[in-house]
This record gives sequence, structure tokens and C-alpha cells, in this order.
Amino acid sequence: MIFITFEGPEGSGKSTQIKVLQAYLIKSGFSVVKTREPGGSVIAEKIRRILLDPKSRAMAPETELLLYLASRAQHVKDKIRPALKNGKIVICDRFFDSTLAYQGYARGFSGKLLTSFNNFATGGLKPDLTLYFDLDIKLGLKRAQKRTGKKDRLEAENKAFHEKVRKGYLTIANMEPGRIKIINALSSIEEIAGKVAMYVDRKLKNAEKHNRPR
Ligand SMILES: Nc1ncnc2c1ncn2[C@@H]1O[C@H](COP(=O)(O)OP(=O)(O)O)[C@@H](O)[C@H]1O
Ligand SMILES: [Mg+2]
Repeated sequence: MIFITFEGPEGSGKSTQIKVLQAYLIKSGFSVVKTREPGGSVIAEKIRRILLDPKSRAMAPETELLLYLASRAQHVKDKIRPALKNGKIVICDRFFDSTLAYQGYARGFSGKLLTSFNNFATGGLKPDLTLYFDLDIKLGLKRAQKRTGKKDRLEAENKAFHEKVRKGYLTIANMEPGRIKIINALSSIEEIAGKVAMYVDRKLKNAEKHNRPR
């Protein structure tokens, strides 16, 4: 039915809010599939393990990009498209905007190239709604570390890298204001949950009106 993605740095509150939204939608009678990237299906989760392994530090940026895309292609085919076809609301923790922000704006791959790769991997599937959690990078890293006690491969990147990711996200969000909503991740969990529910309700109403085929 509708495809919602959550974006933002580690520690910005994506997992927290996805749980709240899932509960809210189920209570309202919707059928919800919660998933994540990289990973989300059996083969894609194997690729995730390689990507996030701190021992993969020497991974070439090209390899990293292609693994993310490989994971996405598999995930879309195995899980996201079938769920949407079956009338479910799909909530995905990260999707192709992460590729644009991390591999594009931060690692320096061309946006044009990435968009074309992304379309190849997804078969043109786009989120109906993307919620981007914007957060000061120092605060985000602090929150993420408090949670896990250690850094994964990407969390260990330097400050300049995370700053570029944030700028990238903001640029992308400003280019597609209809799809991507910027949420201030510093607000309270309750306040953010209210905003998330508002945006999702609005999308659901719209989808009902148009009832557009995929
Ligand atoms: N709005 C918020 N204010 C303060 N702390 C938060 C907020 N949202 C989440 N947290 C806390 O920050 C940490 C990271 O949140 P999490 O949802 O796991 O982020 P992400 O999934 O984006 O990495 C957790 O300890 C969580 O409880
Ligand atoms: Mg998370």
C-alpha cells in the first residue's frame, strides 16, 4: 500500500520512532511490515554483515556502494514489493537516500551515477514518504555509543564525514519537499512521534483518495 522510509544518522531516533509508528498503525487496523537496510531479507542480511563488520575497514568505496545496492535489489524483490502488493504498509529503516547522503555527498560518488544505480537496484520503486531525522552530529554519535557501547564501521568515521552526510541529507530533502519531511531529532520522543503520525496520516488519506496502482 504505502512505502515509508526513515533516514538520518545513527542515534537520531529512527528505531525508536519506527517502533512507535508501527504500534500506532497496527492499532489503527493496518497491516505493517517493518524492515531495514542494508539487509531486510535472508540474502540481504548476509550482505549487511559484511558491510557493517569493523574488520571490513579496508573495503574500497566502490565495493561498499555495490554491496549496498546488491542488498537493496534483493530486499526490494524479496520483501518490499511483495508486501506493498499485499496491501501492507512497509516501514523501512534507511533506503536509497542513505546511499545518496553517505556514498554521494560524503564519499564523493556522482549523484547522477547513484540515481541511475539506485533505479537499477529498485526497479524504480520510490518511497511515498521519507522522514529525515536531523541532528547535530556530535549528539548523534553520543546517543549511538551510549546504546551499543561501541562503534560500528560507519560510526567510526570522522566528524567531517558525518558533517558531509548531514549536509547531503538536507540538500536532498530540500530538493524533494513533497516526499521528504525534515524532523528535528532534538525534540522529545512524544513530540516527534506526533509529527511522524501526522505526516503518515496525511499520506494515507492521500493514498485513499487516489488509490493509485503501482
Ligand atoms: N527524541 C529523543 N530524545 C532523546 N533521546 C532519544 C530520542 N529518540 C531516541 N533517543 C535515544 O537515543 C538513542 C538512539 O536512538 P535510536 O532510535 O536507536 O536511533 P537510530 O535508530 O536512529 O540509531 C537511544 O538510546 C534512544 O533511546
Ligand atoms: Mg537504529
